[in-house]
Amino acid sequence: MGGSTLTIKDLHVEIEGKEILKGVDLEVKGGEIHAIMGPNGTGKSTLSSAIMGHPKYEVTSGTVTLDGADVLDMEVDERARAGLFLAMQYPSEINGVTNADFLRSAINSRRGEGNEVSLMKFIRQMDEKMGLLEMDEDMAQRYLNEGFSGGEKKRNEILQLMMLEPKIAILDEIDSGLDIDALKVVSNGINEMRGNDFGCLIITHYQRLLNYITPDYVHVMMQGRIVKSGGPELAKRLEAEGYEWIKQELGIEDETVGQEA
Ligand SMILES: Nc1ncnc2c1ncn2[C@@H]1O[C@H](COP(=O)(O)OP(=O)(O)OP(=O)(O)O)[C@@H](O)[C@H]1O
Ligand SMILES: [Mg+2]
Repeated sequence: MGGSTLTIKDLHVEIEGKEILKGVDLEVKGGEIHAIMGPNGTGKSTLSSAIMGHPKYEVTSGTVTLDGADVLDMEVDERARAGLFLAMQYPSEINGVTNADFLRSAINSRRGEGNEVSLMKFIRQMDEKMGLLEMDEDMAQRYLNEGFSGGEKKRNEILQLMMLEPKIAILDEIDSGLDIDALKVVSNGINEMRGNDFGCLIITHYQRLLNYITPDYVHVMMQGRIVKSGGPELAKRLEAEGYEWIKQELGIEDETVGQEA
């Protein structure tokens, strides 16, 4: 035991005065894997950015807590130190900072002063994880994400995940742009993390990722809300039938949240 719980209650988020999330409720506990699926532009990435504290996303009401602590009250780096991790849909490139240096300072910031990881141990762990993710050795010394191919960026996000060992991770389209073999490699990395101390929210468009990582729960987001939840069978039905049946069930006409219905 000892897993953490991320609790999202009635979360409303605006971007530039426009309401995108319209009351999201979700709880992710250590040991659980949740998947969120849903049409383009319905607020999935907005949810992850808001949880991680992106300044553009204004929380107008609702709460996000990690083991009872108010996440929305924390600075962005505090959220990471508290054990939250976000793999972004479009990871940013940082020129002048090598991948290895970035990772080591992220780990040390999480561990706190006086408790830094030794260089030897860090290198050993990084070598091991990079081997598992079948990453080229020279990726360690390249600038963070700079010139990385789409798939290399996604692998690198999983390297960060495995090195940082967060309590709760949000993975936004970690499968997009991955070739068939890379999908397995990345899935193995995520499965390696599974355990009571690790909870995960996977945002994906495709059931095929969920063939490798069996989720405990599948949620559908539409119009800035989670409109349906179920088990892995829900993802299979979506893959086979699309979203139309849910829209009909709920009487939804327009799937985006950006404009008024
Ligand atoms: N920084 C921003 N500025 C303006 N509008 C934004 C911004 N970020 C998101 N939006 C709008 O908010 C809505 C939800 O976007 P979001 O990225 O959360 O969708 P999504 O569900 O992740 O879609 P996708 O499946 O295509 O990744 C969209 O209409 C989008 O245009
Ligand atoms: Mg998105």
